[in-house]
Amino acid sequence: MVTAPAFCFLQLFTISYRPELKHLIVFTIGPNKIMTMTDIPTNEEYTLAAEAIRQRTAHQPKIALVLGSGLSELADAVENPDVIQSSDIPGWPGSSVVGHQGKLVFGQLNGTSVLVMQGRTHFYEGASLQRITLPVRVMHLLGIEILIVTNAAGGINQTFTEGDLMLIEDHINFPGMAGHNPLLGANLEQFGPRFPDMTHGYDPDLRALAVKTAEDNDVTLQEGVYACVSGPTFETPAELRFLNGIGADAVGMSTAHSVIVANHCGMRVLGISTITNMANIDPQEEDFTNHEEVLEIGKLVVPKLAKLLRQIVKSL
Ligand code: HPA
Repeated sequence: MVTAPAFCFLQLFTISYRPELKHLIVFTIGPNKIMTMTDIPTNEEYTLAAEAIRQRTAHQPKIALVLGSGLSELADAVENPDVIQSSDIPGWPGSSVVGHQGKLVFGQLNGTSVLVMQGRTHFYEGASLQRITLPVRVMHLLGIEILIVTNAAGGINQTFTEGDLMLIEDHINFPGMAGHNPLLGANLEQFGPRFPDMTHGYDPDLRALAVKTAEDNDVTLQEGVYACVSGPTFETPAELRFLNGIGADAVGMSTAHSVIVANHCGMRVLGISTITNMANIDPQEEDFTNHEEVLEIGKLVVPKLAKLLRQIVKSL
């Protein structure tokens, strides 16, 4: 019995690199469970995806927006749109989740050229993090310099309420801290350095702009730390109390992976969470969290988020 925790501990952190299989990384996560992450896009896949997009639009935006759960309607605000189905882009990750239809919309938002990515793939769907974050590298190849990420999140900070917007100051990336970082494996130097800094993962100037824009437009904008978990289970009350204790203000199942890859390739990042439900830290019998509620509140928040994003984009 005494040796079991140590054994489990060693097993959890065993990582094997197999050069003969090129990039294959094996994580041993338990005595009998081997999880292989073989799906690592090649250089050529990034290039092919970027070329496929270039062939379908003449727009050359420097700003990209990624829309989270329930926020897809924001893409409808794009003027003169060129719409590309993500299934037409080679290598693009697919999504199986309701509320995450995949398409890219190029056009103008408030007169500024943008790329809006509607629908993202999540780690819990089973794809590798390298595949999930392929869109970010492709955006970099297309000339995107600023990435604005939005998501649906559960509010942990008890001063928040459903329907709030939260400017992401920083994140705690649980999958990353536990060995699931999208930059694991051979470093592709053309995208960025082996050990990227994450001190200013969410660009301070963009955050200041968001705060000022919110004030000027009478939009209440909370600020806080986003905890990324893998999902797909919503958190238990004990997990929520833990997240609360370590300084997380909101929790969700996305975003951190893309933000890491964006920082790696030198993009400036702005992140905004929509608080679609309040965490049941001290649940009553009738308290539950469900995806339908997340989508429903997400939709209600869209006008407020759209108003804020249109003004932010205009000032960039
Ligand atoms: N937990 C995790 N992800 C979420 C939540 C939540 O409560 N709400 C929306 N996305």
